Amino acid sequence: MHTHYFSRLGFILAVAGSAIGLGNIWKFPYMTGTMGGGAFVLVYLFTVLIVGISLLVAEMLIGNLTSKDTVSAFEELAPKNSKKIWKLGGFMAFSGLLILTFYSVVIGWIFYYLFLAFGNSFYSDIKASENLFVGFLGNDIWTQLFAHLLAVIVTFSIVYKGVKQGIEKINLILMPLLIVIFLLLLGYSISLPSFGKAFHFLFDYDFSKINSETLLMAVGHSFFTLSIGMGAIMTYSASASKKTKIFRDAIIIALLDTTIALVAGLTIFSFLFNAIDEPAKGPGLLFIALPAIFAQMDFVGQFISILFFIAVSFAAITSAISIAEPSISITTNRYKISRLKAVVIFAIIVYLVGALALLSNATEFSNALTFGSKNLFDWLDYFTTAILLPVGGIIIAIFVGYIIPKNVTRKALDNSMNDTIFKFWLFSVRYIAPIGVAIVLLNESGLLG
Ligand code: PHE
Repeated sequence: MHTHYFSRLGFILAVAGSAIGLGNIWKFPYMTGTMGGGAFVLVYLFTVLIVGISLLVAEMLIGNLTSKDTVSAFEELAPKNSKKIWKLGGFMAFSGLLILTFYSVVIGWIFYYLFLAFGNSFYSDIKASENLFVGFLGNDIWTQLFAHLLAVIVTFSIVYKGVKQGIEKINLILMPLLIVIFLLLLGYSISLPSFGKAFHFLFDYDFSKINSETLLMAVGHSFFTLSIGMGAIMTYSASASKKTKIFRDAIIIALLDTTIALVAGLTIFSFLFNAIDEPAKGPGLLFIALPAIFAQMDFVGQFISILFFIAVSFAAITSAISIAEPSISITTNRYKISRLKAVVIFAIIVYLVGALALLSNATEFSNALTFGSKNLFDWLDYFTTAILLPVGGIIIAIFVGYIIPKNVTRKALDNSMNDTIFKFWLFSVRYIAPIGVAIVLLNESGLLG
């Protein structure tokens, strides 16, 4: 089934491209803002370290051992008598389509802000900047629908063309560019008097601010940001060389991903605190604080803002295609549906559900599209990030920890793990990941009292 394997660097960049996205630059800062700062950051970092990296390795392993789509991979590795059951695990790939609904709405916002950056239309006053964003979300439905359409078309046309060739090249240029822009922004924010406050906000923890929902969101976010729990990493790893040093690559990717998130958080909060005092700004954070600071910087600011939104667009798109590809790969390989047909059908579904999510933020429709405590947009985010990905993670952990024979996993990790690390890894995959994540899930659902 393979026409192309990733080169070594190409593989790392593709997986890093999947991991680094809106989760790091948009979600992480605003979640930190609304969920109590440092305590949220600490839980997130802790989960990345003791569960995230192990599951990253586990997902890579399933893909790399089989070189197949996620359903076929589970089927191939499961023992004879339980193939039918385990293959269901591979259908976790379809939760990607649900993620993509709100993800592509936000890519639409990024596109619109890129357009505004070109027109030099940001306000230096943070209140005015906030009004611009709130007005856009609340009232400018047609622009949003159009931007969302563009996001869906761009994402699925790249997926249609085949992820690998194009992606390797795009990532090679844009990921370094994104890192350079962020380092520049970080440098600038260090010079602001508010940097210290941002630093404390991110790294001083106050556990009284953590409740079961924030705990689950922090755990869920560590899955989201590493692209774990829906088969994205598995699918990419199916196209990696059999000589891939899985553990080494997983460490590099987790480091890159975490660094970008922390740098984005530090930068955005320094800018925000420089202008106002309160941290909680919700999903608008990226779209309010940064544009205002860009506007204050005049000509240079406009230049940086254009580069910034271009780089974020690419970071988001390289993630979006990794979210879409697993479902396409299953449908085309197993059900012999043509790639074109699969792409068109999924694109339409994602567009329509995404459009409803977008409308649920709009003043006119928000009442009709709010269910209980959250509107549709927030439900999609919550349900995928906090429920589906952790559940996917548990399935992967059990499968790799107990179903695939230990000698097989040991051999596959031979070239990058010594015995001690392997023992730690196996312990995490067998016990910490499934039990820890299950406890957090049950706790939030109220089942644990
Ligand atoms: N990791 C991506 C981000 O942080 C999102 C993603 C989630 C990608 C799940 C693939 C699978 O933006």
